[in-house]
Amino acid sequence: MQERLKELRKMAEAKIKSAHDLETLKELKIKFLGKKGELTSVLRGMGSLSPEERPVVGALANEIRNRLEELISSKEGELEEAKLEQKLKEETIDVTLPSVSFPMGAIHPLQAVIEELEDIFIGMGFEIAEGPEVETDKFNFEMLNFLKDHPARDMQDSFYITPEILLRTHTSSVQARTMLAKKGEVPVRIICPGKVYRRDSDDATHSHQFMQIEGLVVDRNISMSELKGVLFTFIKKIFGEDTEVRLRPSFFPFTEPSVEVDIYDPKKGWLEILGAGMVHPRVLEKSGYNPERYTGFAFGAGIERIAMLKYGIDDIRHFYNNDLRFLRQFQSE
Ligand code: PHE
Repeated sequence: MQERLKELRKMAEAKIKSAHDLETLKELKIKFLGKKGELTSVLRGMGSLSPEERPVVGALANEIRNRLEELISSKEGELEEAKLEQKLKEETIDVTLPSVSFPMGAIHPLQAVIEELEDIFIGMGFEIAEGPEVETDKFNFEMLNFLKDHPARDMQDSFYITPEILLRTHTSSVQARTMLAKKGEVPVRIICPGKVYRRDSDDATHSHQFMQIEGLVVDRNISMSELKGVLFTFIKKIFGEDTEVRLRPSFFPFTEPSVEVDIYDPKKGWLEILGAGMVHPRVLEKSGYNPERYTGFAFGAGIERIAMLKYGIDDIRHFYNNDLRFLRQFQSE
């Protein structure tokens, strides 16, 4: 019997060692070690052995079982590893192959300037307001103290849709809208970036459509010096701390006094970037604010102007022609 067991061990060891795949190994396991396997069937004959022989054969059988189990499990590990290796080999990626390109858009320079301005003004406690681009005469002119036949209306050539409806010529049209919506409450502290339209012939410095950013503050005790502080702060944040700024007296029907603000460009000299002033008492009154009690200031800046100075762009039409060679230069902004 011991001979048969040893024989069985030899055969099983050889077969397990030469198994080439996990399937075969599984079959061998059943064949030799399973309930109906060969080892069990040899042991069934134990009954015919003498009491002295039994423990010896039993011990041998156990040893063989352990040995075969060990062999099978180590072979199993080996085959699994080989299988994984094979799989990895088949799925190898050649990282030196050229990749597919994913074209990335860029933020338009006007949008970049708007976002920068919004950040600056939000930091100074302003909120962002909006108004329609198709506007009524009432908000674009009348509420801003342009009387019906006031010569000031000739200052701006407008795109009229009907005699009462036009494309807004400036973002100042949001001033009265904002104040009316606030119903006499203070503080009013808003900016409004947006598109405006004028009947200009397009050239390097004129565009029939462009962008402005309006600012409006109304509260008690608002003075010209606060206007100056806000303007200087934002200009220096946008163009740099050393930027030279100057105020010139000017005229707008909706502000009194009015100023225009220039910044100094080493190449081009003094350049106007915005109009501003103290909100005209009549404008406050028309929008429900008692000018005896409240004062305010407003300003309106050209966004293209700011972007052109900031990025050294020499032609306003670049913003609107969608030439990718121009737009790509802002890709990493
Ligand atoms: N709306 C004026 C313009 O278009 C600018 C401005 C805004 C001036 C607010 C004073 C106050 O030129």
